[in-house]
Amino acid sequence: MAVTPLPGIRACVFDAYGTLFDVAAAATRCADVLGPRSAALAQLWRDKQLQYSWLRGLQGRHADFWQVTGDALDYALETLAIDDRALRERLMALYLTLDAFPEVPAVLARLKAAGMTTAILSNGSPRMLEAAVAAARLDGLLDHVLSVELVGVFKPHPKVYQLAVDRLAVPASAIAFQSSNGWDAHAASAFGMRVVWCNRYGQRAERLPGAPDHMVGNLAELPALLGFA
Ligand code: LAC
Repeated sequence: MAVTPLPGIRACVFDAYGTLFDVAAAATRCADVLGPRSAALAQLWRDKQLQYSWLRGLQGRHADFWQVTGDALDYALETLAIDDRALRERLMALYLTLDAFPEVPAVLARLKAAGMTTAILSNGSPRMLEAAVAAARLDGLLDHVLSVELVGVFKPHPKVYQLAVDRLAVPASAIAFQSSNGWDAHAASAFGMRVVWCNRYGQRAERLPGAPDHMVGNLAELPALLGFA
């Protein structure tokens, strides 16, 4: 991967779930009920949520991310033989108030202070994103919160990345896109954005079209990559 800073960037666009917000936080906060099953539930829930988003995209049968997230949770709970309606509702409610990763507010503030346009580009429905942003107190630090509901298909459909170009009125080559999801990072790169793969989970490189320009362990490294020490 390149080590030189990314030149000519005017906007920083972030994936939401797993990148700004800790998707494991909901299950972790229910450890009182889930006990040692919380990690398995979080993983299965997330894996199934993404699979359903991709499959619905391929079938042309879109439903919003709230529906997909609920369907995935039902699958995960049944797989782990957990039949608990109250827990199901509690987990869904917690998805609206996930923790932001610790470095996120300061990084967004630094980018804003440097004059960058900042945005979220996410599968999340408008209501989910609005709630998560408000709960994490990121409102004043984001210029745009863009949901795929505006184009009616999930990532990694190119229409989603085009949405950011259109709404921000910035060419793809002047957008730095940050995602912890390798497949999302590759897709944004293949689309033409500059990409910083925030590899929080130590994943292997995807064998997919596109190539992230940089890989970081968390977002604290981003301002320096953009030339803001
Ligand atoms: C999102 C998912 C992919 O926020 O994490 O779009």
